[in-house]
Amino acid sequence: MNETEIKPDIYWVGAIDWAVRDFHGYVTPKGTTYNNYLILDKESTLIDTVKYDFADITIRSIKKLAGSSEIKNIIINHIENDHMSALGRVMEHFPQAVIYCTLRGKQGMERFFDISKWNIKTVKTGDSLNIGKHTLMFLETPMLHWPDSMMTYVKEAKVLFSQDAFGQHIATTQRFDDEYLESTSVNELEAITIDYYANILMPFGRLIKSKIAEIQKMNLEIDIIAPDHGLIWRKSPSMAIDIYLKMADGHAKLRVALIYDTMWHSTEQMTLPLIQGIREEGVECRVIKLRSTPMSVAITEFWNSRGCLVGSPTLNNEVFPSVAEFIVHLRGLRPKDRMVGAFGSYGWGGGAVKWLYNEFEAMKLKSVPDGVQVQYRASDEDELRCFEFGREFARNVKEYHSQFK
Ligand code: FEO
Repeated sequence: MNETEIKPDIYWVGAIDWAVRDFHGYVTPKGTTYNNYLILDKESTLIDTVKYDFADITIRSIKKLAGSSEIKNIIINHIENDHMSALGRVMEHFPQAVIYCTLRGKQGMERFFDISKWNIKTVKTGDSLNIGKHTLMFLETPMLHWPDSMMTYVKEAKVLFSQDAFGQHIATTQRFDDEYLESTSVNELEAITIDYYANILMPFGRLIKSKIAEIQKMNLEIDIIAPDHGLIWRKSPSMAIDIYLKMADGHAKLRVALIYDTMWHSTEQMTLPLIQGIREEGVECRVIKLRSTPMSVAITEFWNSRGCLVGSPTLNNEVFPSVAEFIVHLRGLRPKDRMVGAFGSYGWGGGAVKWLYNEFEAMKLKSVPDGVQVQYRASDEDELRCFEFGREFARNVKEYHSQFK
Protein backbone atom coordinates (compact mmCIF):
# COMPACT_ATOMS: atom_id res chain seq x y z
CA MET A 1 0.00 0.00 0.00
CA ASN A 2 1.88 3.03 -1.22
CA GLU A 3 -1.05 5.44 -1.08
CA THR A 4 -2.05 7.30 2.07
CA GLU A 5 -5.26 9.24 2.64
CA ILE A 6 -4.48 12.63 4.14
CA LYS A 7 -8.09 13.95 4.06
CA PRO A 8 -11.24 12.36 2.64
CA ASP A 9 -10.61 11.84 -1.08
CA ILE A 10 -7.15 13.39 -0.92
CA TYR A 11 -4.21 10.98 -1.10
CA TRP A 12 -0.43 11.06 -0.92
CA VAL A 13 0.74 9.20 -4.04
CA GLY A 14 4.45 9.95 -3.81
CA ALA A 15 7.64 7.95 -3.60
CA ILE A 16 10.17 7.23 -0.88
CA ASP A 17 13.81 7.53 -1.89
CA TRP A 18 15.53 5.41 0.74
CA ALA A 19 18.86 5.44 -1.06
CA VAL A 20 19.65 9.04 -1.97
CA ARG A 21 22.62 10.33 0.04
CA ASP A 22 23.63 13.23 -2.17
CA PHE A 23 20.81 15.56 -3.13
CA HIS A 24 22.50 17.93 -5.60
CA GLY A 25 25.43 18.23 -3.19
CA TYR A 26 23.32 18.35 -0.08
CA VAL A 27 24.01 15.29 2.07
CA THR A 28 20.83 13.38 2.87
CA PRO A 29 21.79 10.68 5.39
CA LYS A 30 18.14 9.88 6.00
CA GLY A 31 17.10 9.85 2.31
CA THR A 32 14.06 11.82 1.21
CA THR A 33 10.57 11.54 -0.22
CA TYR A 34 9.01 13.10 -3.30
CA ASN A 35 5.48 13.90 -2.20
CA ASN A 36 2.67 14.39 -4.63
CA TYR A 37 -1.04 14.19 -4.06
CA LEU A 38 -4.21 13.08 -5.80
CA ILE A 39 -7.62 14.63 -5.20
CA LEU A 40 -10.47 12.36 -6.26
CA ASP A 41 -13.40 14.44 -7.41
CA LYS A 42 -15.61 15.11 -10.42
CA GLU A 43 -12.40 16.33 -12.03
CA SER A 44 -9.72 14.27 -10.36
CA THR A 45 -6.61 16.37 -9.92
CA LEU A 46 -2.95 15.58 -9.36
CA ILE A 47 -0.81 18.00 -7.35
CA ASP A 48 2.82 17.78 -8.55
CA THR A 49 4.67 14.72 -9.82
CA VAL A 50 7.88 13.07 -8.60
CA LYS A 51 11.47 12.55 -9.67
CA TYR A 52 11.72 10.72 -13.01
CA ASP A 53 13.13 7.52 -11.51
CA PHE A 54 9.95 7.08 -9.47
CA ALA A 55 7.43 7.79 -12.25
CA ASP A 56 6.15 4.19 -12.36
CA ILE A 57 5.41 4.19 -8.65
CA THR A 58 3.27 7.31 -8.70
CA ILE A 59 1.51 6.33 -11.96
CA ARG A 60 0.57 2.98 -10.43
CA SER A 61 -0.80 4.68 -7.31
CA ILE A 62 -2.77 7.22 -9.34
CA LYS A 63 -4.34 4.51 -11.55
CA LYS A 64 -5.13 2.34 -8.57
CA LEU A 65 -7.04 5.15 -6.85
CA ALA A 66 -8.63 6.78 -9.87
CA GLY A 67 -9.67 3.48 -11.49
CA SER A 68 -11.04 4.13 -14.94
CA SER A 69 -11.67 7.83 -14.34
CA GLU A 70 -9.51 10.35 -16.11
CA ILE A 71 -7.09 12.68 -14.38
CA LYS A 72 -8.48 15.99 -15.54
CA ASN A 73 -6.01 18.43 -14.04
CA ILE A 74 -2.36 18.43 -13.02
CA ILE A 75 -1.14 21.24 -10.81
CA ILE A 76 2.59 21.89 -11.04
CA ASN A 77 3.56 23.96 -8.03
CA HIS A 78 7.29 23.83 -8.80
CA ILE A 79 9.29 22.74 -11.84
CA GLU A 80 12.52 21.52 -10.21
CA ASN A 81 13.47 18.05 -11.42
CA ASP A 82 12.65 16.24 -8.18
CA HIS A 83 9.00 17.23 -8.62
CA MET A 84 8.45 17.65 -12.34
CA SER A 85 10.80 15.32 -14.18
CA ALA A 86 8.14 12.57 -14.16
CA LEU A 87 5.59 14.88 -15.81
CA GLY A 88 6.36 13.59 -19.32
CA ARG A 89 5.72 10.01 -18.19
CA VAL A 90 2.54 11.03 -16.37
CA MET A 91 1.27 12.85 -19.47
CA GLU A 92 1.75 9.69 -21.56
CA HIS A 93 -0.95 8.15 -19.38
CA PHE A 94 -3.23 11.19 -19.04
CA PRO A 95 -2.66 13.19 -22.25
CA GLN A 96 -5.96 15.05 -21.93
CA ALA A 97 -5.10 16.52 -18.52
CA VAL A 98 -4.95 20.29 -18.25
CA ILE A 99 -1.77 21.50 -16.58
CA TYR A 100 -1.95 24.50 -14.25
CA CYS A 101 1.21 26.38 -13.30
CA THR A 102 2.59 29.91 -13.13
CA LEU A 103 3.79 31.71 -16.25
CA ARG A 104 7.42 31.18 -15.15
CA GLY A 105 6.52 27.54 -14.58
CA LYS A 106 5.32 27.19 -18.16
CA GLN A 107 8.39 28.98 -19.49
CA GLY A 108 10.62 26.60 -17.56
CA MET A 109 8.55 23.54 -18.48
CA GLU A 110 9.10 24.07 -22.19
CA ARG A 111 12.85 23.90 -21.63
CA PHE A 112 12.41 20.35 -20.34
CA PHE A 113 9.58 18.94 -22.47
CA ASP A 114 7.94 19.26 -25.86
CA ILE A 115 4.78 20.92 -24.59
CA SER A 116 3.25 21.61 -28.01
CA LYS A 117 0.49 19.03 -27.49
CA TRP A 118 -0.15 19.84 -23.84
CA ASN A 119 -2.97 22.05 -22.63
CA ILE A 120 -1.27 24.38 -20.15
CA LYS A 121 -3.06 27.15 -18.29
CA THR A 122 -1.11 29.73 -16.35
CA VAL A 123 -2.42 31.00 -13.03
CA LYS A 124 -1.76 33.89 -10.68
CA THR A 125 -2.30 34.50 -7.00
CA GLY A 126 -6.02 34.47 -6.21
CA ASP A 127 -7.02 32.41 -9.25
CA SER A 128 -9.07 29.38 -8.38
CA LEU A 129 -10.25 26.16 -9.97
CA ASN A 130 -13.39 24.28 -9.00
CA ILE A 131 -13.02 20.55 -9.54
CA GLY A 132 -16.36 19.42 -8.04
CA LYS A 133 -16.48 19.21 -4.27
CA HIS A 134 -13.17 20.99 -3.96
CA THR A 135 -11.96 24.44 -4.90
CA LEU A 136 -8.27 24.97 -5.46
CA MET A 137 -6.79 28.41 -4.90
CA PHE A 138 -3.35 29.33 -6.19
CA LEU A 139 -0.77 31.46 -4.46
CA GLU A 140 2.38 32.49 -6.29
CA THR A 141 5.54 32.27 -4.20
CA PRO A 142 8.24 33.49 -6.61
CA MET A 143 11.78 32.76 -5.42
CA LEU A 144 10.55 30.41 -2.74
CA HIS A 145 12.67 29.00 -3.89
CA TRP A 146 12.54 29.21 -7.71
CA PRO A 147 10.85 31.90 -9.82
CA ASP A 148 8.10 29.48 -10.91
CA SER A 149 7.11 28.41 -7.39
CA MET A 150 3.56 28.54 -6.16
CA MET A 151 1.38 26.88 -3.52
CA THR A 152 -2.10 25.45 -3.86
CA TYR A 153 -4.74 25.72 -1.15
CA VAL A 154 -7.82 23.49 -1.06
CA LYS A 155 -10.51 25.43 0.69
CA GLU A 156 -12.97 22.69 1.67
CA ALA A 157 -10.26 20.38 3.02
CA LYS A 158 -8.18 23.21 4.52
CA VAL A 159 -5.01 21.77 3.05
CA LEU A 160 -2.09 23.89 1.89
CA PHE A 161 0.13 22.14 -0.67
CA SER A 162 3.31 24.08 -0.01
CA GLN A 163 5.81 22.45 -2.46
CA ASP A 164 9.34 22.67 -1.05
CA ALA A 165 8.46 25.00 1.82
CA PHE A 166 8.10 23.32 5.22
CA GLY A 167 9.67 20.10 3.90
CA GLN A 168 12.39 17.91 5.33
CA HIS A 169 14.72 15.38 3.76
CA ILE A 170 13.73 12.16 5.46
CA ALA A 171 12.74 8.78 4.08
CA THR A 172 10.37 7.09 6.46
CA THR A 173 7.30 4.89 6.44
CA GLN A 174 5.65 7.59 8.56
CA ARG A 175 3.77 10.14 6.48
CA PHE A 176 2.64 12.54 9.19
CA ASP A 177 4.31 14.65 11.86
CA ASP A 178 2.28 13.01 14.65
CA GLU A 179 3.36 9.54 13.52
CA TYR A 180 6.99 10.64 13.49
CA LEU A 181 6.64 12.15 16.94
CA GLU A 182 5.49 8.81 18.35
CA SER A 183 9.06 7.55 18.05
CA THR A 184 11.09 10.73 18.26
CA SER A 185 11.08 14.18 19.79
CA VAL A 186 9.83 17.62 18.82
CA ASN A 187 13.47 18.72 18.88
CA GLU A 188 14.35 16.15 16.23
CA LEU A 189 11.46 17.23 14.02
CA GLU A 190 12.54 20.84 14.43
CA ALA A 191 16.17 19.90 13.66
CA ILE A 192 15.38 18.18 10.34
CA THR A 193 13.13 21.09 9.35
CA ILE A 194 15.85 23.63 10.17
CA ASP A 195 18.50 21.56 8.36
CA TYR A 196 16.38 21.76 5.21
CA TYR A 197 15.72 25.49 5.70
CA ALA A 198 19.43 26.25 6.23
CA ASN A 199 20.54 24.55 3.03
CA ILE A 200 17.66 25.49 0.72
CA LEU A 201 15.82 28.51 2.04
CA MET A 202 18.40 30.53 3.99
CA PRO A 203 18.60 33.24 1.29
CA PHE A 204 14.88 33.90 1.34
CA GLY A 205 14.11 34.84 4.96
CA ARG A 206 12.61 38.23 4.13
CA LEU A 207 10.43 36.76 1.36
CA ILE A 208 9.30 33.96 3.66
CA LYS A 209 8.16 36.44 6.28
CA SER A 210 6.19 38.50 3.82
CA LYS A 211 4.64 35.41 2.19
CA ILE A 212 3.56 33.99 5.55
CA ALA A 213 2.11 37.41 6.45
CA GLU A 214 0.22 37.36 3.13
CA ILE A 215 -1.17 33.90 3.90
CA GLN A 216 -2.15 34.96 7.41
CA LYS A 217 -3.88 38.07 6.03
CA MET A 218 -5.96 35.86 3.76
CA ASN A 219 -7.29 34.14 6.90
CA LEU A 220 -6.92 30.73 5.33
CA GLU A 221 -7.85 27.99 7.74
CA ILE A 222 -5.03 25.45 7.55
CA ASP A 223 -5.58 21.97 8.97
CA ILE A 224 -2.73 20.41 7.04
CA ILE A 225 0.44 21.64 5.38
CA ALA A 226 1.45 19.10 2.76
CA PRO A 227 4.99 19.75 1.49
CA ASP A 228 6.77 18.05 -1.41
CA HIS A 229 9.37 16.40 0.85
CA GLY A 230 9.17 14.54 4.12
CA LEU A 231 6.43 14.64 6.69
CA ILE A 232 2.96 16.11 6.29
CA TRP A 233 2.14 18.59 9.04
CA ARG A 234 -1.19 17.26 10.35
CA LYS A 235 -0.78 17.62 14.10
CA SER A 236 1.08 20.91 14.14
CA PRO A 237 1.03 22.99 10.95
CA SER A 238 1.46 26.03 13.19
CA MET A 239 4.76 24.57 14.40
CA ALA A 240 6.03 24.52 10.80
CA ILE A 241 5.04 28.15 10.35
CA ASP A 242 6.58 29.15 13.69
CA ILE A 243 9.88 27.46 12.80
CA TYR A 244 10.00 29.33 9.48
CA LEU A 245 9.17 32.67 11.10
CA LYS A 246 11.85 32.08 13.72
CA MET A 247 14.40 31.23 11.04
CA ALA A 248 13.39 34.22 8.91
CA ASP A 249 13.99 36.42 11.98
CA GLY A 250 17.58 35.16 12.08
CA HIS A 251 17.12 32.83 15.04
CA ALA A 252 20.32 31.11 16.18
CA LYS A 253 21.73 29.59 19.33
CA LEU A 254 24.26 31.41 21.47
CA ARG A 255 27.01 29.23 20.14
CA VAL A 256 30.15 29.45 18.03
CA ALA A 257 30.70 27.16 15.08
CA LEU A 258 34.43 26.75 14.57
CA ILE A 259 34.81 25.62 10.98
CA TYR A 260 38.29 24.94 9.67
CA ASP A 261 40.67 22.89 7.62
CA THR A 262 44.35 22.22 8.07
CA MET A 263 47.44 21.00 6.14
CA TRP A 264 50.04 19.96 8.73
CA HIS A 265 47.91 20.51 11.85
CA SER A 266 49.14 24.06 12.52
CA THR A 267 45.74 25.64 11.93
CA GLU A 268 44.24 22.71 13.83
CA GLN A 269 46.58 23.38 16.74
CA MET A 270 45.12 26.90 16.96
CA THR A 271 41.61 25.54 17.46
CA LEU A 272 42.31 24.26 20.98
CA PRO A 273 43.18 27.60 22.62
CA LEU A 274 40.45 29.29 20.57
CA ILE A 275 37.90 26.81 21.92
CA GLN A 276 39.20 27.31 25.46
CA GLY A 277 38.81 31.07 25.08
CA ILE A 278 35.26 30.69 23.77
CA ARG A 279 34.37 28.29 26.60
CA GLU A 280 35.97 30.65 29.13
CA GLU A 281 33.24 33.12 28.20
CA GLY A 282 30.57 30.49 28.80
CA VAL A 283 29.72 30.03 25.12
CA GLU A 284 29.18 26.60 23.56
CA CYS A 285 31.42 25.71 20.62
CA ARG A 286 30.83 23.24 17.78
CA VAL A 287 33.89 22.19 15.82
CA ILE A 288 33.81 21.16 12.17
CA LYS A 289 36.79 20.03 10.13
CA LEU A 290 35.77 20.62 6.56
CA ARG A 291 37.39 17.69 4.75
CA SER A 292 35.87 15.31 7.29
CA THR A 293 32.38 16.78 7.11
CA PRO A 294 29.78 17.10 4.35
CA MET A 295 29.37 20.69 3.26
CA SER A 296 25.66 20.84 4.09
CA VAL A 297 26.40 19.76 7.68
CA ALA A 298 28.87 22.62 8.00
CA ILE A 299 26.27 25.01 6.61
CA THR A 300 23.66 23.81 9.12
CA GLU A 301 26.14 24.25 12.00
CA PHE A 302 26.88 27.74 10.72
CA TRP A 303 23.19 28.56 10.58
CA ASN A 304 22.42 27.20 14.04
CA SER A 305 25.19 29.25 15.68
CA ARG A 306 25.22 33.01 16.24
CA GLY A 307 28.97 33.15 15.67
CA CYS A 308 31.34 31.41 13.29
CA LEU A 309 35.13 31.30 13.32
CA VAL A 310 36.60 30.13 10.05
CA GLY A 311 40.12 28.72 10.03
CA SER A 312 42.35 28.18 7.01
CA PRO A 313 46.02 27.62 6.26
CA THR A 314 47.50 29.63 3.44
CA LEU A 315 48.36 27.54 0.41
CA ASN A 316 50.26 29.17 -2.44
CA ASN A 317 49.17 32.60 -1.12
CA GLU A 318 45.55 31.52 -1.26
CA VAL A 319 42.91 30.26 1.10
CA PHE A 320 42.78 26.45 1.45
CA PRO A 321 40.51 24.93 -1.26
CA SER A 322 38.02 23.24 1.07
CA VAL A 323 37.60 26.50 2.99
CA ALA A 324 37.04 28.35 -0.28
CA GLU A 325 34.37 25.79 -1.16
CA PHE A 326 32.63 26.39 2.15
CA ILE A 327 32.68 30.14 1.60
CA VAL A 328 31.28 29.76 -1.93
CA HIS A 329 28.38 27.69 -0.56
CA LEU A 330 27.82 30.22 2.19
CA ARG A 331 27.95 33.20 -0.15
CA GLY A 332 25.24 31.67 -2.33
CA LEU A 333 23.02 31.27 0.71
CA ARG A 334 23.34 35.00 1.49
CA PRO A 335 23.66 34.59 5.26
CA LYS A 336 22.56 37.31 7.64
CA ASP A 337 22.48 37.94 11.38
CA ARG A 338 25.66 36.01 12.13
CA MET A 339 29.01 37.23 13.51
CA VAL A 340 32.22 35.93 11.96
CA GLY A 341 35.97 35.94 12.43
CA ALA A 342 38.97 34.12 10.96
CA PHE A 343 42.20 32.45 11.97
CA GLY A 344 44.92 30.48 10.25
CA SER A 345 48.55 29.54 9.85
CA TYR A 346 50.99 30.35 7.07
CA GLY A 347 54.58 29.62 6.06
CA TRP A 348 56.25 32.55 4.35
CA GLY A 349 53.44 34.79 3.21
CA GLY A 350 49.89 34.92 4.58
CA GLY A 351 46.76 35.45 2.56
CA ALA A 352 44.01 33.13 3.78
CA VAL A 353 42.83 35.22 6.74
CA LYS A 354 42.80 38.42 4.69
CA TRP A 355 40.87 36.61 1.95
CA LEU A 356 38.30 35.44 4.50
CA TYR A 357 37.78 38.95 5.89
CA ASN A 358 37.29 40.27 2.36
CA GLU A 359 34.64 37.61 1.82
CA PHE A 360 32.93 38.45 5.12
CA GLU A 361 32.81 42.09 4.08
CA ALA A 362 31.37 41.20 0.67
CA MET A 363 28.67 39.15 2.45
CA LYS A 364 28.00 42.12 4.76
CA LEU A 365 28.45 39.94 7.83
CA LYS A 366 29.49 41.51 11.10
CA SER A 367 33.02 40.49 11.93
CA VAL A 368 35.47 40.74 14.79
CA PRO A 369 38.73 42.14 13.33
CA ASP A 370 41.44 41.12 12.47
CA GLY A 371 41.54 37.48 13.33
CA VAL A 372 44.62 35.66 14.50
CA GLN A 373 47.47 34.24 12.41
CA VAL A 374 50.58 32.24 13.23
CA GLN A 375 53.67 31.43 11.21
CA TYR A 376 54.51 27.74 10.74
CA ARG A 377 53.47 26.54 14.17
CA ALA A 378 51.89 28.23 17.19
CA SER A 379 54.33 29.10 20.00
CA ASP A 380 53.15 29.44 23.60
CA GLU A 381 52.68 33.16 22.97
CA ASP A 382 50.70 32.42 19.82
CA GLU A 383 48.45 30.03 21.71
CA LEU A 384 47.82 32.75 24.27
CA ARG A 385 46.88 35.13 21.44
CA CYS A 386 44.47 32.48 20.14
CA PHE A 387 42.95 32.05 23.60
CA GLU A 388 42.47 35.81 23.93
CA PHE A 389 40.98 36.09 20.46
CA GLY A 390 38.58 33.25 21.32
CA ARG A 391 37.46 35.18 24.40
CA GLU A 392 37.13 38.44 22.48
CA PHE A 393 35.15 36.73 19.76
CA ALA A 394 32.80 35.04 22.24
CA ARG A 395 32.21 38.34 24.08
CA ASN A 396 31.27 40.00 20.80
CA VAL A 397 28.97 37.13 19.89
CA LYS A 398 27.20 37.34 23.27
CA GLU A 399 26.64 41.05 22.86
CA TYR A 400 25.42 40.63 19.28
CA HIS A 401 23.15 37.75 20.25
CA SER A 402 21.43 39.87 22.91
CA GLN A 403 20.01 42.03 20.10
CA PHE A 404 17.90 39.15 18.86
CA LYS A 405 14.67 37.87 20.35
FE1 FEO B 1 12.36 19.79 -3.94
FE2 FEO B 1 13.09 22.85 -5.31
O1 FEO B 1 12.84 21.01 -5.28
